[in-house]
Amino acid sequence: MKLWGGRFTKPTNELVDEYASSIQFDKKLAVYDVQGSLAHVAMLKKCEIIPSEDANTIAEGLKKVLSKIEAGEAELSNEHEDIHMNVEKLLIDEVGPVGGRLHTGRSRNDQVALDMRLYLRDAIAELSDLLKTVQQSLITQAKANIDTVMPGYTHLQRAQPVLFAHHMMAYVFMFQRDVERFQDSLKRVNKSPLGAGALAGTTFPIDRHFVADELGFDGICENSLDAVSDRDFVVEFLSNSALVSTHLSRLCEELVQWSSAEFNFVELDDSFTTGSSMMPQKKNPDVAELVRGKTGRVYGHLMGMLTTLKGLPLAYNKDMQEDKEGMFDAHETLKGALQLFAPMIESMKVNKESMYKAVSNDYSNATDLADYLVNKGMTFRESHAVVGEVVLNCIEQNKYLLDLTLKEFKQYTEVIDEDIFDVLMPEAVVNARSVEGGTAKDSVLHQITKAEKLLESA
Ligand code: ARG
Repeated sequence: MKLWGGRFTKPTNELVDEYASSIQFDKKLAVYDVQGSLAHVAMLKKCEIIPSEDANTIAEGLKKVLSKIEAGEAELSNEHEDIHMNVEKLLIDEVGPVGGRLHTGRSRNDQVALDMRLYLRDAIAELSDLLKTVQQSLITQAKANIDTVMPGYTHLQRAQPVLFAHHMMAYVFMFQRDVERFQDSLKRVNKSPLGAGALAGTTFPIDRHFVADELGFDGICENSLDAVSDRDFVVEFLSNSALVSTHLSRLCEELVQWSSAEFNFVELDDSFTTGSSMMPQKKNPDVAELVRGKTGRVYGHLMGMLTTLKGLPLAYNKDMQEDKEGMFDAHETLKGALQLFAPMIESMKVNKESMYKAVSNDYSNATDLADYLVNKGMTFRESHAVVGEVVLNCIEQNKYLLDLTLKEFKQYTEVIDEDIFDVLMPEAVVNARSVEGGTAKDSVLHQITKAEKLLESA
């Protein structure tokens, strides 16, 4: 017999039970569902809506139900549709008809919104902590490579040399914003919808603030219709997760490129790579590729949720049951990636010589020659043209700027002196960019200090 079977004359078609039930995935919410019910029943007792001894019996029963579910001893069935009704059914089996008092002044509609918010609160805390471990691993690599010069790229063409530490720190600040976005979203996630009832509130003299305080919420959802009908907090979580995925994916792409023979900038540790079933020599950056690949599913969940919500009239609609799998999967997907990421970054070998060679055999010091000429009084446009010609001739002669003699330099303009050879060295080129946020060693050390402060204060 269904808990809501009273007005029905026929049993539900079995396929409907299977199709409409969510228990196979929302059982993940069991712990939050019981947590919410415990707060609700404590409130019913305090407000004298149900007798004290009944409330105590229900609370004890709920705890038993949860431990049975967690031990895999409880039967969760499609017939009882979702985690909320399965828990209620198990409770009644456990404590008898008195369990039927639990749902006084409550609907599954405010209940499910509550469970989702409780779940997300934990997920956000967990992902934020994991992001911090990734930031830490990047800072560790930055510190170990504070003198490692590598080519910096635009359009994937060598542009200007940068410190590998600077490159690592770029991601540290991206992930910092990701953490901040997650934390900021808590302002909106951490509100209690309980008391909204099915849509319009409840006739019982409940105390919404008591429940909110019990559950550690910062306040309550102000409007009952809004409380049960929006999932913008899920969209926001998915959007924030999508951005984390984007950042991870870009770094993965670089790791894949850098570990190719063509770049040979890094070597990922054996424990974070895999081999080929056919080609004995292969060592593949599978983890980095998979993290990059899984970005697609996180984006997909975001689009899915937005699309589900679009066009839904207020208030609750069953469509909203579709909010769960994407949210769970985005959380699990990011968790899996972030757990692997910190040790993968930390164990990565950085091939300093290879990077230095790359940066020496290119024209990425050309801007510095142009800047040099500006300091000697040329306009930047003029110097750009002169250096363009120098580079063109060098390419034809198979030379780099530092291969030229002073005499050859002077053929372009008399203003070039002996000091040009120091100016054009990769380290000098890097350290000349001492502007705040730039790639000079001191600037990067400053960034590291700032980032470490941010990590400590969080
Ligand atoms: N399983 C449902 C969901 O996840 C719970 C709310 C159901 N409410 C209802 N009136 N059918 O959305």
